[in-house]
Amino acid sequence: MATATQAHIRVGTLEELKARGCTVVTGGGHTIAVFAHDGKVYAVDNRCPHMGFPLDRGTVKDGILTCHWHHARFDLSSGGTFDPFADDVRSFPVSVSDGEVWVNPSPPESDPIGRWSKRLEDALEDNIRLVIAKSALGLDAARADYRVPLGIGARFGTTYSAAGWGQAMTMLTCSASMLPYLEVEDRPLAMYQGLLHVARDNAGMPPRFLLDPLPTGETRPEVFKLWFRNFIDVRDSDGAERCLRTAIEIGIPEQTVADMIFAAITDHIYVDGGHTLDFANKAFELLDHLGWEHAGQILTSLVQGMAGVRRSEELSSWRNPIDISSMVWRAREALGAAYAEGASRRGDWDDEDALAGIILEDDPAATLDAMVEAVRRGASEAQLGSAVAYAAFMRMARFHTSNEFNDWDTLHNTLTAANALHQALKRAPSLELLRATLDTAMSVYLDRFLNMPAQRTPAPLANGAVDGEALRSRLLDGMNVQQQVEPSAKVVSDYISGGATPEGIIASLGHAMLREESGFHMFQIVDAAIKQHEERRGTNAGRIVLVALSRFLAAHAPTSRAVQQTFNIALRLHRGEALYDERG
Ligand code: FES
Repeated sequence: MATATQAHIRVGTLEELKARGCTVVTGGGHTIAVFAHDGKVYAVDNRCPHMGFPLDRGTVKDGILTCHWHHARFDLSSGGTFDPFADDVRSFPVSVSDGEVWVNPSPPESDPIGRWSKRLEDALEDNIRLVIAKSALGLDAARADYRVPLGIGARFGTTYSAAGWGQAMTMLTCSASMLPYLEVEDRPLAMYQGLLHVARDNAGMPPRFLLDPLPTGETRPEVFKLWFRNFIDVRDSDGAERCLRTAIEIGIPEQTVADMIFAAITDHIYVDGGHTLDFANKAFELLDHLGWEHAGQILTSLVQGMAGVRRSEELSSWRNPIDISSMVWRAREALGAAYAEGASRRGDWDDEDALAGIILEDDPAATLDAMVEAVRRGASEAQLGSAVAYAAFMRMARFHTSNEFNDWDTLHNTLTAANALHQALKRAPSLELLRATLDTAMSVYLDRFLNMPAQRTPAPLANGAVDGEALRSRLLDGMNVQQQVEPSAKVVSDYISGGATPEGIIASLGHAMLREESGFHMFQIVDAAIKQHEERRGTNAGRIVLVALSRFLAAHAPTSRAVQQTFNIALRLHRGEALYDERG
């Protein structure tokens, strides 16, 4: 016992403890409530895991400890809770030797990653945001790879979603992708927010069961591609899912599977306003994080959405007053010959600014002609996608705040669709997918009235150098006030053109998003802007991309920030800080 007592805390005599019922000791970084109850001794963390109320002020009856603040109940012997909203309270080993009570404040923990993973799984099922936040922090503190919480969230989100892949899975993937661009302390917050939305959308939903692969001897990729496109065309989601599952199981390569999915999505014009392609691209990005071995589970979650959604040729806005839809079909036909002609020069083209300028003008026929001509002159799939994405960011940078507030979202939809298409074109370039650049350019055209009048973008500083840290603070302070759209754009513009390294302002823009009640659109635009800026680092176009992002974020800030408040409670509990104010 002599060795043990060096690390243990002396509580007092057993008789004293019995007389008092409970006493509080400190050690090992913990404040511990030690109870004598029903002939036994128990020790638990004195801070209620819910909001930190002192548990020595709770009530013990029949082996159950009840916190007096929100009445969470705990099994005194294990710390396990009967009220999942509160989470389990940590218990500590106790011993009695020669009439003296001792508590061990630092028992070895064998598998913290396993313990936090299990808590995260439970919290997702019950949609308990405080425990989701604690789990994200616990896994981060235990140095778990980011793919541990990501994988748990992905498995949950693609299983308990009858409708398949949706906004929440997109947000979770955006969270994972933006982690390297965030400050270290914001990374658990990003993961928490992504997981939180997966829980909100899917908790309590029935599981989705995968269809078995076909027992077929067919192995030709072109046959699976044909089958899959035909099934999606006639909205047969079961046929398409079984076809896709089989293609993955028999080992058809990743790029070929991507080509199959992207071709089926682009067989119709601008399906679901670009969301379907965005979701598919995000599912592949999730597989980049987690590994291709998860393809069967993740990619089949796309199929129901692909088969059921609206096709833009069915929309009046694509038919009247100008029949954009017919123009796109004709341009798609012309694209084949231009693609063949441009094959020997593919990638040599270098005229993105000029093409983006034409896309932003008011002539859809001229735009489609210019795009087909660019392909003929050697523009690659990714280059054409990049030009459309840049035009969409320019629309956002020039959006005038005299428009309806909801019109920010109109531009946002085109912008994220254009970014998704660009990323997909880099992943699996093909003539079929290239067709979608024409559709997406027409969406940029349809948004033209939101640049009338056009907001002037801030001019770059003529000569640097700026105090980057001061500008980062000014940006975040500014977004504490509503509608600081132009001041925020100016700060970002000055920061970039003043020579400060982009990483700092990107981390601040990420923080500005994460501290708010950020929904689907906010996650999407931060993710898209990071990717589009990476394409244009050190250029004026890169500056415009971040200006556009800052304007959108500033227009939507501040919010109630309740999500961050929950995270901060979890963070303070994690750090052992007092949450309950004794002064009331
Ligand atoms: S139940 Fe204990 S602080 Fe809320």
